[in-house]
Amino acid sequence: MPGINRRRFLTGSASLLAAQAFSSLHPAEAAGSEGLVEWDLEATHDWVGVGGGKAYLYAFNRQVPGPTIQARPGDHVRIRFLNSLSEPTNLHFHGLHIPPVGNADNSFLQVRPGERLTYEFDLPASHQGGTFWYHPHVHGSTARQVSRGLAGLFVVRGELDQIPEIEGAPEIGLVLQDFALGTTGVPLDPNPMERRTGREGSLITVNGQVNPQFPLERDGWLRLRIANASSSRFYRLRMEEHPFHLIAVDGGGLPAPEEREEILLTPGERVEVMLRGSRPEGSYRLWSLPYDREASGMMRGPISQALGLATFTYLGQAERTWDLPSQLVGVDPLREASIRRSFYLGQGMGTGMVMGATMNFTINGLSFNPDRTDTRASLDSVEEWESINTTTMDHPMHIHTNPFQVVGSDALPIRAWKDVALVPAYSRLRIRTAFRDFTGRTMYHCHILDHEDLGMMGIAEIVN
Ligand code: C2O
Ligand code: CU
Ligand code: CU
Repeated sequence: MPGINRRRFLTGSASLLAAQAFSSLHPAEAAGSEGLVEWDLEATHDWVGVGGGKAYLYAFNRQVPGPTIQARPGDHVRIRFLNSLSEPTNLHFHGLHIPPVGNADNSFLQVRPGERLTYEFDLPASHQGGTFWYHPHVHGSTARQVSRGLAGLFVVRGELDQIPEIEGAPEIGLVLQDFALGTTGVPLDPNPMERRTGREGSLITVNGQVNPQFPLERDGWLRLRIANASSSRFYRLRMEEHPFHLIAVDGGGLPAPEEREEILLTPGERVEVMLRGSRPEGSYRLWSLPYDREASGMMRGPISQALGLATFTYLGQAERTWDLPSQLVGVDPLREASIRRSFYLGQGMGTGMVMGATMNFTINGLSFNPDRTDTRASLDSVEEWESINTTTMDHPMHIHTNPFQVVGSDALPIRAWKDVALVPAYSRLRIRTAFRDFTGRTMYHCHILDHEDLGMMGIAEIVN
């Protein structure tokens, strides 16, 4: 790879490395017992260890990222949430197919400082296995709260996890976050131009660490669940000398593994990949390559560099080796849509704009209004939604409650369940979705969270 520093990093003895890495294989996870998954989650504002130093961040249970919640389809989930921040916050269960109302995945709820709320829902028995995540979703504050550390994985173990060749591999969750910190470790607030582009921080962490080390066994497989929990940063992932064997995207498993040299992970997206220890012993880096998310034709300074995210070091020989199966899980294509809609993504400037201070983002000309219902859909119908990006910036569009399938326009169709899909600047993307199981008001928005906060969000009401 031209332009990339291939220097190999080896820190510490092999056994130390192994101890460190394997202890983070399943970070603080609690498996469901008897179908009940219970957690106490507290949003805190305190000094926490991140990237080898201390930072004054927001955190779930004083850790960045928050604890990994694990559940199985059919489980009952109960999360007793306490807001110890000095501002309102809440929880959103990104990607889960659960009700958007009541005390389930209701992003209209707000928990005031010092108050508690118990979130509670059943995961449908038919829920896909996959890598999901949770984060706050208070309109106007989402970018600030997520970029200060509030994010954690929510793993659903389903059909994909029962395939022996998948389940037999050690597994690591990688939560990608970036932080903009001042020299004292206190987060910096973005200026209006940074909010317009979407804030990025120069401290890039994986599971709260800078360039963590993980072991890879020779001839063995390693499964990575990677989540982009950054508020705006895109990660163009590439693993030095190792292809990714992609097995799952946002909403669940693929019909078959796909070999990829590179994977673009936009905010909110997740992938699951298998890595095979097929190269000579040594250390290999997981890179994030440069990506320009603004169609300016000009690479801005910080984005023109490749960033090392993590290092994988060969340690020992696998006891067994195997090939991946040629089939994974069934993904039935959605039937023809009965309704088609267009969503024009725009950016505007409020009247009396001063240096972009009142910059707003719109869908079909309107900025978000919690009291307005933008779209009405019928339960059990299939709809086709086309996003038309009229702006100079990329927008990764996300829909709550029901996953979707990308079917076309400027994008290639993919047989997979997604909940975030990139609509590059000046292009179109067509998705198909089915409104299943749940009624109520739910949201769709750009997952560059500053754009969401600045108005690029709408409400769909699913009615019976
Ligand atoms: Cu991950 Cu509406 O968000
Ligand atoms: Cu979401
Ligand atoms: Cu956007």
